[in-house]
Amino acid sequence: MIDDLKLPEAFVIAIDGPAGSGKSTLAKRLSMELGAVMIDTGAMYRSATAIAMDADIDVTDEWAVVNKTQGIEIVFVPDGDIQKVIVNGADYTKRIREPEVSSKVSIVAAHGAIRDIMTEKQRQMGANGRIVMEGRDIGSNVFPNAEYKFFLVADDMVRAKRRMAELGEGGREISIEEVLDNIRARDRLDSERTQSPLVKAEGAIEIDTSNLNIDEVLSRMINYLSSGGQGAS
Ligand code: DC
Repeated sequence: MIDDLKLPEAFVIAIDGPAGSGKSTLAKRLSMELGAVMIDTGAMYRSATAIAMDADIDVTDEWAVVNKTQGIEIVFVPDGDIQKVIVNGADYTKRIREPEVSSKVSIVAAHGAIRDIMTEKQRQMGANGRIVMEGRDIGSNVFPNAEYKFFLVADDMVRAKRRMAELGEGGREISIEEVLDNIRARDRLDSERTQSPLVKAEGAIEIDTSNLNIDEVLSRMINYLSSGGQGAS
């Protein structure tokens, strides 16, 4: 853990970007380095999606999903080097990463009323302490006044290969074309929705992670934090 960075006692670091740009890995590493709490907001939209699907709700029916999501309890529990996702008391860590959830989550995340519920929760979760929050609209909408903002990007094929490797670790058989299609479809839905689309927030530092390894991206982020605003690109 780095403690000579002279960062404030409390801060929000927003990390946004498309699927496979490296947000989750970097958010995890950065939060460990800084002794900060990491909040994976994609896992929250995935949780709402999984809960709706498990109740046989048509995810295109916004109000039915809202009904099921109001009062949803999502808790992140550190467990070794992962975070368990506990939804309404049950362990949803694996469920929310299943391809059927991944293929529907952008539909749920496009519902304005669901975004309102999640945004409210995220603001509460990020209200105190040192927070690294990753998602699509953290710097632009959830915490527009975040002390530090990063926007990670990478080539489509690089992102698909990363997703493929992650899925491989979970023992799933899927082709690279399928993963690429899924990523592009989600990019489209995430970028074209009306409420809080995926955009680079004002003041965000963009890092293209296509040709960088995790340590290289991490050190650019830390350089930026330590220089109080310079040296990331
Ligand atoms: O990062 P991820 O793949 O786990 O995100 C899952 C979905 O949730 C993805 O379609 C984008 C959406 N999302 C969002 O709209 N806003 C966020 N802050 C985080 C994720």
